[in-house]
Amino acid sequence: MPISTNSEGLGIASLAPLLAEVSKAFERQLASDLPPVNTLCRHVERYRGKMLRPTMVFLSGQAFGNVGERHVIIAATCEMIHMATLVHDDVLDEAEVRRKGSTVNHLRGNEVAVMLGDYLISNAFHLCSRAGDPALNLRLGEVTNTLCEGELVQLSHREDLSLDERTYFEIVRRKTAVLIGACCELGARLSGAPEDSVAALRRFGEGIGVAFQVQDDLLDLEGREDVVGKSLGRDLEKGKLTLPVIIHLARCTGVSRERTIAAIRARDGSALMAELTAGGALVDARHRAEAMVATARAELAQVPAGAARDALDAAALAIVHRDF
Ligand code: IPE
Ligand code: IPE
Ligand code: MG
Ligand code: MG
Repeated sequence: MPISTNSEGLGIASLAPLLAEVSKAFERQLASDLPPVNTLCRHVERYRGKMLRPTMVFLSGQAFGNVGERHVIIAATCEMIHMATLVHDDVLDEAEVRRKGSTVNHLRGNEVAVMLGDYLISNAFHLCSRAGDPALNLRLGEVTNTLCEGELVQLSHREDLSLDERTYFEIVRRKTAVLIGACCELGARLSGAPEDSVAALRRFGEGIGVAFQVQDDLLDLEGREDVVGKSLGRDLEKGKLTLPVIIHLARCTGVSRERTIAAIRARDGSALMAELTAGGALVDARHRAEAMVATARAELAQVPAGAARDALDAAALAIVHRDF
């Protein structure tokens, strides 16, 4: 199966050299003299995603000054934390495709994937320590704890047809948004931004992070696997209710409600999509994500005008219009 080698991330040309530095830091950190370990690390390094988290570190830093070695370390750390969670998440979701390649669990089995995820998370914090600032380890440790809590709470709500929006958004904030928020926060702080601007960028990152997961959940329902590059339909398959389904169940009654519940129980994606489309829930979920992006963009008023701020703004808009 072909593997994506897109090293340009979200396609912001000026960031290409910095993202290449992230790849190098990643490879240096994971180099092992043990062939079984090295083979696996080389395998996951060949997978490149959108590099959203490093992009946020760099743009948030550039908005307030120069970016340097510590930005590269933090960007690589955050991407490694992210990759560790993806390797484990693919075990939970029994996914076979990730970043247009085979998942580690599909290729090598769950045991290897569990251990490799542990190895990546441990290496992430080892790498972070090279920045020489315990405050960075403390903050990213807190963020990773929160991320795992989000995944655990999500697991506790599997097959829960009464999952409400408040709980859904709390899961999403924890499992996805806090890491993206921390990328913005730390990128800005490392460039000497004032603390009120750092806080505004953290809120910006968390806001777009929640919208990013809503869009991911929409793609899981209506995306094309060859474009998105990962196994889709996993949320339904694993009994995870996402925003369109929650919106729909909260307001539909009678036969439509019965058909929706039957579709969920039967894991019938087409029948579920028919109900969600007819009830307008997909459109409504997209509007909710767009509204969150608009709120997040308002935080950029606390960031100096310039090319980096414009790029953050453009990235925020692109998040809810992406098809991959
Ligand atoms: C996937 O994240 C997991 C979610 C938080 C939705 P990305 O969509 O950023 O994955 P990559 O890094 O581009 O593969
Ligand atoms: C995001 O949830 C997972 C993490 C934050 C680790 P998903 O399960 O929706 O992510 P994908 O769709 O598999 O990338
Ligand atoms: Mg998943
Ligand atoms: Mg998903």
